[in-house]
Amino acid sequence: MAYSEKVIDHFTNPRNMGEIEGASGVGTVGNAKCGDIMRIYLDIDDNQIVRDVKFKTFGCGAAVATSSMATELVKGKSIYEALQVTNKAVMEALDGLPPVKVHCSLLAEEAIHAALWDYATKHNIEIPGLQKPVNDISEHEEAEEY
Ligand code: FES
Repeated sequence: MAYSEKVIDHFTNPRNMGEIEGASGVGTVGNAKCGDIMRIYLDIDDNQIVRDVKFKTFGCGAAVATSSMATELVKGKSIYEALQVTNKAVMEALDGLPPVKVHCSLLAEEAIHAALWDYATKHNIEIPGLQKPVNDISEHEEAEEY
């Protein structure tokens, strides 16, 4: 299995790792198959721009690399643009992922969506195209499957 230099770079030197206290939106998603978990924190300003973003990933190297790249891609964007950061965009920015690792990049997309959903719900706004995240596990974090 070959990883691109960018994947290795983002895995060994992840950007925006950590958490944001009092974040505007937090999304936690999990992959039931591998058990990996990813959490994204968004700090969104009054103009609905992502001022800061941090992530925590308990998962494989590809999950760490994709969360790192995903945070780079949403930083400075509006919440509407952030929604357009798909796993495909993240993978392209990383110069690709081995096929068996594609699902790891989905986790990053889902975590961003879950954090945007959390923000939208708290602020009573609607982000067109945003749907309630299916893998959001934030409400039942202690569920025994994790
Ligand atoms: Fe689970 Fe990569 S193997 S996210």
